[in-house]
Amino acid sequence: MLYQISKFALVFCLIWGCGNSPKNTYPKEGDPVLFAEHIAPIIHQTCVSCHHPDGPAPFTLVSFQDIAPKGKLIAHVTANRIMPPWPADPTYSHFANETYLNDSQIQLIQRWVEGGCLPGDTASLVQTETLRKQWDLGKPDVIVKLPKPIIVPGNNSDLFMVVKIPFELPKDTFVKAIEFVPGKKRLVHHMNAHIIQFNPAKKKDLKGGAMYVNQDQSKSQTIHKELGLLNDDGTYAPMTPSVCNYLPGAQFRFYPKEIGGYKMGTKNAFYLNDLHYGPSAIEEQDSSYFKIYYAAKAPKRPVSEFQIGTLGLVPVTPQLMVKPGEVKTFNIRFPVPQDISILTLVPHMHLIGKKYLAYAIKPSGDTIRLIRINNWDFRWQYFYQPPTLLKIPRGSVIYVEGVYDNTAENPNNPFYPPREIGEREGSMRTTDEMFQLIITYLPYQKGDELIKNGE
Ligand code: HEC
Repeated sequence: MLYQISKFALVFCLIWGCGNSPKNTYPKEGDPVLFAEHIAPIIHQTCVSCHHPDGPAPFTLVSFQDIAPKGKLIAHVTANRIMPPWPADPTYSHFANETYLNDSQIQLIQRWVEGGCLPGDTASLVQTETLRKQWDLGKPDVIVKLPKPIIVPGNNSDLFMVVKIPFELPKDTFVKAIEFVPGKKRLVHHMNAHIIQFNPAKKKDLKGGAMYVNQDQSKSQTIHKELGLLNDDGTYAPMTPSVCNYLPGAQFRFYPKEIGGYKMGTKNAFYLNDLHYGPSAIEEQDSSYFKIYYAAKAPKRPVSEFQIGTLGLVPVTPQLMVKPGEVKTFNIRFPVPQDISILTLVPHMHLIGKKYLAYAIKPSGDTIRLIRINNWDFRWQYFYQPPTLLKIPRGSVIYVEGVYDNTAENPNNPFYPPREIGEREGSMRTTDEMFQLIITYLPYQKGDELIKNGE
């Protein structure tokens, strides 16, 4: 996951979110709470993004028939703030893709369930086909599949693969978005994809070399050669980094109009430098794939990305290493070299991460709040989208503070008794640690503060 500030254009897989300005109607005191009138708008706004037929959640929450029988369970998970998962602290900063229920919404769900889950006027409900637009971007122009399924052995351990997926397009084109569709959703943990664009004159055989190698058994210096990703003369072909990333909880989203996108030639290969499968007790086969959406015009404002902390532009201080039994705070400090407009923020830690705080201090001394997570949860890692593009002026300093808990009392500690955990030579293994802030941005332009994010 090494992305540096780059001048490359890129498109991103973003999480779907439905702003937190609910247009719910509330029943009058003493009136019954009804599904169609009061509850459906909440669920459709905050749950359907994951609980739809192709989503990461185990069941669909779209119709009355889906939702009413689960009423008690829904009342329980919402009252305890287990669902919808939203690790960021809404008293610190807000996001366009916030899925967060306020107290009155939670109480409304309780009242609906206590009142016997009444349907109301279900004929007036938004049709599934209309809702579908929230998660389905329509027919892609191209689908690129793994040449053959990847076998995940049933040995109960993580599997980290480096994968090449060659593909050809009929002509040079512009691409506005790429979506990754995990095959075995429960197993695919995260994925980072880059695109290698070959000059057809310099690359005869796109398919030569291995389709994938296990990260443990490969050396990063020779990986391009092993996968046949070099030009025929042994030189490197240009790479467009981070065209698509997938993390737990992540969903697809376009950037605002005229932002993102890039040019693509005819001979290409996806290069997945990290396709991580979680442990499985039985052998499984995964057939994940990509959907590519063309753009009619050349991209106006290509997006860039940088990351700070582990493997990033500036290191973690002190070095990220936590002794058994220790609770320790680490810092990242990054002076911003140019005016930027932030599109997404991705905080990243692993299992013993506890708290996360990021903010910027402007040259004037004012603070720009970025994000606070009071209870880090490894399972839910989002691409947080500020409500409008967020300007960070040149000369500001971004500060990130992370607390790691390596005590036996931390239920997420992967080791019992605890062992020393920290950064280890570029390892992304879940049981080693990372501390990062990944930022996608544009060079700032006047008026960016007014551009709504995630629309
Ligand atoms: C970001 C994706 C996401 C969103 C948004 C989301 N869920 Fe879930 N939900 C999941 C996943 C994934 C699971 C499977 C269990 C897990 O991984 O925690 C789940 C599980 C559940 C369960 C089963 C819990 C259990 O203990 O069996 C319920 C009930 C539920 N969700 C209700 C909701 C409701 C109600 C909302 C909206 C208010 C919602 N979810 C929003 C992803 C989501």
